[in-house]
Amino acid sequence: MAFDIDMIKKVYDNMTSRVDAAREIVGRPLTLSEKILYSHLWEKTPSQMYKRGVDYVDFAPDRVACQDATAQMALLQFMHAGKKTVAVPTTVHCDHLILAKNGAEKDLAFAKTQSSEVFDFLSSVSNKYGIGFWKPGSGIIHQIVLENYAFPGGMMIGTDSHTVNAGGLGMLAIGVGGADAVDVMSGMSWELKFPKLIGVKLTGKLSGWTAPKDVILKVADILTVKGGTGAIVEYFGEGATNMSCTGKGTICNMGAEIGATTSTFGYDDSMRRYLTATGRQDVVDAADKVADYLTGDAEVYANPGQYFDQVIEINLSELEPHINGPFTPDRGTPVSKMKEEAAANGWPIKVEWGLIGSCTNSSYEDMARAVSIVNQAVEHGITPKAEFGVNPGSEQIRYTIERDGMIAAFEKLGTKVFTNACGPCIGQWDREGADKQEKNTIVHSFNRNFSKRADGNPNTHAFVTSPEMVAALAISGRLDFNPLTDALLNDKGEEIMLKAPFGDELPKRGFDVKDNGFQAPAEDGSGIVIAVSETSDRLQLLAPFQAWNGKNIIGAKLLIKAFGKCTTDHISMAGPWLRFRGHLDNISNNMLIGAVNAFNQKTNSVKNLLTGEYDTVPAVARAYKAAGIASVVVGDHNYGEGSSREHAAMEPRFLGVIAVLVKSFARIHETNLKKQGMLGLTFANEADYDKIQEDDVINFIDLVNFAPAKPLSIEFVHADGSKDVILANHTYNASQIGWFVAGSALNLIAAEA
Ligand code: F3S
Repeated sequence: MAFDIDMIKKVYDNMTSRVDAAREIVGRPLTLSEKILYSHLWEKTPSQMYKRGVDYVDFAPDRVACQDATAQMALLQFMHAGKKTVAVPTTVHCDHLILAKNGAEKDLAFAKTQSSEVFDFLSSVSNKYGIGFWKPGSGIIHQIVLENYAFPGGMMIGTDSHTVNAGGLGMLAIGVGGADAVDVMSGMSWELKFPKLIGVKLTGKLSGWTAPKDVILKVADILTVKGGTGAIVEYFGEGATNMSCTGKGTICNMGAEIGATTSTFGYDDSMRRYLTATGRQDVVDAADKVADYLTGDAEVYANPGQYFDQVIEINLSELEPHINGPFTPDRGTPVSKMKEEAAANGWPIKVEWGLIGSCTNSSYEDMARAVSIVNQAVEHGITPKAEFGVNPGSEQIRYTIERDGMIAAFEKLGTKVFTNACGPCIGQWDREGADKQEKNTIVHSFNRNFSKRADGNPNTHAFVTSPEMVAALAISGRLDFNPLTDALLNDKGEEIMLKAPFGDELPKRGFDVKDNGFQAPAEDGSGIVIAVSETSDRLQLLAPFQAWNGKNIIGAKLLIKAFGKCTTDHISMAGPWLRFRGHLDNISNNMLIGAVNAFNQKTNSVKNLLTGEYDTVPAVARAYKAAGIASVVVGDHNYGEGSSREHAAMEPRFLGVIAVLVKSFARIHETNLKKQGMLGLTFANEADYDKIQEDDVINFIDLVNFAPAKPLSIEFVHADGSKDVILANHTYNASQIGWFVAGSALNLIAAEA
């Protein structure tokens, strides 16, 4: 991985001068988060202080990671950038498309058949463009990133919300949409609103049944699922340094559950130990030289209230194990309170399944502590009352714990070891009987527990807890079992108290793996041809969108005037449509089908002005496109809020929508529209929304003068021949106008390549 260590050394070489410059400009000591942010500015050396929660800033991340579901469209787009290789180190991980049913061997074989065209496509694009490819079965994106790529003080983006896991190794790692990943892979900057900062001071030391998981379950309980929005959570204090690096990863991973931009920890001995154990002594050597720059300034941690926007303090010595849920990860219940809470809320007490693993809790320490509970059950003749499943986070972890006898220990309890992949965590779980939709309880060590997430059953009450607590609750078969105070009955009817879990932080004999599932890219990929079958319904090569012809657009039709909330889910629904996320034509059949038509208050029913008939939104858009007529979408406030899904901008573009005119935009969606070469416009006068009528013909009468900070005039010709000319504002700067002119941002990059 010479490429990586060279890149890391370069980051550290730049870090000292950039952080020193930032400290000078800001005029005070810096948090770790600020050090990483200011040392990764696109402009390189900081020249101004940025206002937290206000300023939008361009950054230069060090690397990109994509998972198989989101990578498809990202790579299809990247292929248009005209680049020989990706601009920063990038990896693709096959982990989301593997169903858990019969156990690893059979499930992996089935997935490879079922999704072979997707895996083959991702593999060949990776090979061609210098991207590291992790094959199906190699493991889960975030575990592999932690084991191989994360490094203290680095900045990365990933097309998955739990990219934040890499904060366990002192990175700022942030989940983004595919469009952002394409920008960075293509050598462009990446924009982020300068985050606010939440400091979490950890005092004391974890012991007994309490695990790192309980720290984040407690933080989620305090901050709720929205409490971290727009903020970086920075952990510090003796409690932080007393904890393993992988435990820190678990805490950062679930920062996504409080909506945080990301979470991180300062560089310490636990990170040195983990880097060394995972074969990265060279990173330790490099990091040690700049260690002071890889943690917050001492003055910050001594007086956190002065430097963070919010400070929380948790004493780990007093922290109880927590069980969070059901249906939301921020509903925290300490184990001592579960009996009364479960009874008061009517939660099913019987635990049906215990699931361990996922990207959140797959470390050697996690597995070892869970196995220490499993072994006690076997030793004392206690028959587990619930079923058990394990999803190891990587082949390296699976191979090592198998070598050390842990898989055999799990199997003594009849545990199903599923593929090293997401499986039940992302609903890829063919759970027997789930279709009956019975009310039931499961416990798992994953991160999310929203309704239907694991097995599709809305009546499954999923609770999140540490792996060792999952083991204890599954063995007891009771949600209200408290291993600190309650005994279990063994097969002879004797009362057995479980001893507190224990386990090595790292394997004494080191990590081991035979085939980690990595495919290095070709040295020279220029001769590699990317083959996608024309008959595929899941993948389709993209054709560049047409450049603007330089003329005013006259005679456009109104496609839909959306009423009320119109999120990216309304614009491009998820669920079964995700199967088509690599096929723009097919997935476009979901375009705006969730939006309410302001004229008839119906969803997916708009007037085709060519026939006068009502039809679905995609069908009408296709009719206009076939007739060579541009169409326009009109919307209400905060249009495009929700996920950063790039399909919500690509689909309208593909189906011939030239402009989206709304009262206000969600910023990311507005940017995505610009990137796809469309006009994202806002009413200069919101009341003009009411002037737009169903049969309008729309003329962009001064588009030829499109310029920054200059509103556009749009003429609406009504059915009775009357007209309204309204003003539309926009936020395009000169280079973004260049995207519109070229047909898309990627077209422009390709032209410049
Ligand atoms: Fe996969 Fe669940 Fe993590 S879907 S990436 S294991 S959050």
